[in-house]
Amino acid sequence: MAETGLFAQSGKVWVLASAGAQQMASFFPERQAFTEWSLKVPQRLAPLVEEGLVDEVLSQLMSGKEATVYVVRCGDSVRCAKVYKDAKQRSFKNAVSYTEGRKVKNSRQARAMEKGTRYGRQMQEEAWQNAEVDALFRLANAGVRVPQPYICTDGVLLMELVTDADGQVAPRLNDVELTAESALEHHAYLIKQVVRMLCAGVIHGDLSEYNILMAASGPVIIDLPQAVDAAGNNEAAAMLSRDVQNLAVYFGQFAPQLLTTAYAKEIWQHYVASTLTPETPLTGFVAADTTPVDMDGLMQEIEDTRREEQERRLRLQERD
Ligand SMILES: Nc1ncnc2c1ncn2[C@@H]1O[C@H](COP(=O)(O)OP(=O)(O)O)[C@@H](O)[C@H]1O
Ligand SMILES: [Mg+2]
Repeated sequence: MAETGLFAQSGKVWVLASAGAQQMASFFPERQAFTEWSLKVPQRLAPLVEEGLVDEVLSQLMSGKEATVYVVRCGDSVRCAKVYKDAKQRSFKNAVSYTEGRKVKNSRQARAMEKGTRYGRQMQEEAWQNAEVDALFRLANAGVRVPQPYICTDGVLLMELVTDADGQVAPRLNDVELTAESALEHHAYLIKQVVRMLCAGVIHGDLSEYNILMAASGPVIIDLPQAVDAAGNNEAAAMLSRDVQNLAVYFGQFAPQLLTTAYAKEIWQHYVASTLTPETPLTGFVAADTTPVDMDGLMQEIEDTRREEQERRLRLQERD
């Protein structure tokens, strides 16, 4: 199909950027048959085509609340282009807790961001977009399996396209059938990845079955604009706990013994004691606390967890 210069996916038809419009019309006189027909590269990708970073736009993968994702060709490689939406259109992820502790280049930028001036908002926007590419470089260098990033420019992140064994775009964990055995295996692997991330100072902050792709080589963690700096954020422990809990609840559907594990607590204890390394052996259990139980506090905690889980499910539903 590459020679024809035409790709159809999700009911859309993209004509490759390099092919001339008239030429295309003569190639495809039956073009009216297509539901959508575009001779143009999507507007937001045009600067990258002009700069020679992208040669062709092959298809649109997803359009979610935060971003639209395309498959593109860059020279001989097929890559993934994530186009960020404006802050206005974004949802919960922009909450203060995620941005706390993030470094900005200078105090003028920090003041502008606090005041919310136009310059400030632009800075905030860039900080948000750079956070993902920064986290990806940091994590890829630390040996965490994330898409290899290439560049983030003009509000677009260019990165490796994660593929499955057939070379097709990899499915999300949510769309894959699991057995108890494979659930245990992937869970163990992902816990190790979470530890490796924390050793590199990063907490994902939105880890779920929707942000893990099942590549030929195993799970790949994606979607990191909200990644949290573990050292500079007061809510780091809570976010780690939520990420790890999401994994337990998801894989726990296939392997219920995971539901009673306490990896987050164990990992965090090692982290604050500075004894956490990617090789630290973990059991999933922490030593029992022998102090008398505060029943009211416990009931409150259970209720809070239930509510958080309900809210999380609602949020995920809204996003899909
Ligand atoms: N590097 C990639 N390779 C393959 N597919 C990807 C890649 N990055 C994102 N996707 C696809 O695009 C979807 C949305 O990307 P994501 O980074 O999760 O953004 P959002 O904030 O919109 O959830 C993912 O669920 C996945 O299906
Ligand atoms: Mg996502």
